[in-house]
Amino acid sequence: MLVRHLLAFAAMLSSNYLTPDYYRSHSPAQAYLDLRADPTLSSLSDPNVWNLVAFIWRSNTTPDGIAKGQQLFAQNCAACHGESGRGDGVFAASVETQTGKFPANFTDPASMLGASPALLQGKILRGGMGTGMPYWGPIFENETIWSIIGYLYTFQFDEGQ
Ligand code: HEC
Repeated sequence: MLVRHLLAFAAMLSSNYLTPDYYRSHSPAQAYLDLRADPTLSSLSDPNVWNLVAFIWRSNTTPDGIAKGQQLFAQNCAACHGESGRGDGVFAASVETQTGKFPANFTDPASMLGASPALLQGKILRGGMGTGMPYWGPIFENETIWSIIGYLYTFQFDEGQ
């Protein structure tokens, strides 16, 4: 479904929205508001504006990057965050017992659509600060962290993966 919409509407997007800087510094919710306020897109329905947001997010990833992100997530994150990203990995309960915090649920639109890639990057670099989430800054290369972040958004924008 998304693909058909993309062919029709992606050409309407100003290239300003397609830069890595735009993607990294905006949450999907902010991007939605920007596109919704853009006069050149005023004829689009709200669901199609969301499709364009998904398109911006997808155009900042590659199939290889997503595959790499998925593999690293399975190896390093799923024990807490769950294979399906729901925050229900095998260690989730013990993390909660020890720290009072559950691992984040990446399928939750309220937190993921409100989070920019830069914000998620900061949290991954720093870790959970006493919540049991390790800090990954010394472990992964920057590009690797962007691949994982690209994968985290597929729990929201999973079309075409
Ligand atoms: C030992 C368990 C554990 C592991 C392993 C773990 N996390 Fe977490 N993570 C947590 C917990 C607990 C939180 C919630 C912290 C909080 O509520 O402040 C969290 C929060 C996050 C957040 C913040 C989400 C938000 O919306 O604020 C991100 C992003 C994240 N983790 C990514 C990752 C990634 C990527 C990996 C693997 C490279 C990973 N985590 C591995 C336990 C873990």
